[in-house]
Amino acid sequence: MLWEEFTIKNIKLKNRIVRSATNEHLGTLDGEVTASYINVYKELAKSGIGLIITSHMAVEKGQRADPTHICINESENIARLKELIEEVHKTDSKIICQISYGGSRAAKVVGRKAKTPSKTDNTTEMTIDDINCCIDNYAKTIRLVKKIGFDGVELHLAHGYLLSEFLDSFYNKRMDEYGGTIQNRYRIIHQILLNIKEMIQDPNFLVTTKINSTSKSKNPLFLDEQIQVCKLLEKDGVDAIEISGSDYRYYRESFPYFLDNALRIKEHISIPIILVGGFRAKEQMNEAIAKGINLISMSRPFIIDKNFVEKLKNNQSSNCINCSKCFDIYKTAFKHCVFDQEIDRQLYKNFHK
Ligand SMILES: Cc1cc2nc3c(=O)[nH]c(=O)nc-3n(C[C@H](O)[C@H](O)[C@H](O)COP(=O)(O)O)c2cc1C
Repeated sequence: MLWEEFTIKNIKLKNRIVRSATNEHLGTLDGEVTASYINVYKELAKSGIGLIITSHMAVEKGQRADPTHICINESENIARLKELIEEVHKTDSKIICQISYGGSRAAKVVGRKAKTPSKTDNTTEMTIDDINCCIDNYAKTIRLVKKIGFDGVELHLAHGYLLSEFLDSFYNKRMDEYGGTIQNRYRIIHQILLNIKEMIQDPNFLVTTKINSTSKSKNPLFLDEQIQVCKLLEKDGVDAIEISGSDYRYYRESFPYFLDNALRIKEHISIPIILVGGFRAKEQMNEAIAKGINLISMSRPFIIDKNFVEKLKNNQSSNCINCSKCFDIYKTAFKHCVFDQEIDRQLYKNFHK
């Protein structure tokens, strides 16, 4: 089942394997794409993945979430990203670009200039002008993503970035039309999607979203609210939804911990569902597909093992033990899994002493 093709619009994926967005921290301090970044995607494509989702890229440089965050709108990036896509398309893999606005996560880069739905100790509350500007920037960026040649875009609505903060009443305390009811909290996303209607209707371009099925706030109604959001996304023409969560306790587990949430969401929508988090063995993936999940998305298994697709073909599981040290290690110049068999252990020790 994992090896079966899957088609969304006119985009045919050769198998059900997705490389979930993974920030390699390989941009320059000016937000530019580097040769090493292009290389990562060349290798991922060669390894046989059906759909690759890029690291998230900043829609707005002034609201980026980390210092090496690639800012897609930097003019130098256009030629480099075209080259990257060309390399990926030399294989029969497809590639979509994940885009985000930092939200409170931008505070560690831009301090109190970081803009969030509601004011916090470290951030400023967005005005209506800021919201309109953000909607405009998203629409322009999505048009650029298409122009550069990506097979689609993924709006990052998860993991504490700006649009997930709008959706979550724990972060969104606004009293105007962008806060309060689910429809109001969703409004900014609706307006972005309305602005790119021609791309939603384009049969050769995917518009997807990554969404939380759990919140740090542990709000017991959160999943029900997100189901409503998924229905709105479907109504607005989104082609597929990747289900994730913001409850990072689970990141230590080796099973698809958001599966039950994804299946609950699936009862309410009919667009394809991509599930991420904890997949390590082929049996788990086929079981999820048999239950109705359409695509299996993974990040860390591709960090520890560049040939993970080959391993799956040989019925081997991932060696990833979910230590999650890669989250921090990737922020350094040392882009390896701690348990990568091929690296020089001494080099690792020296780097971290
Ligand atoms: C180093 C690293 C960077 C990540 N960067 C992103 C990112 O840019 N965007 C995103 O949506 N998720 C990001 N994630 C989360 C993954 O896409 C995925 O949701 C999470 O790691 C759980 O999947 P896994 O168990 O297969 O690793 C990142 C994960 C890791 C390990």
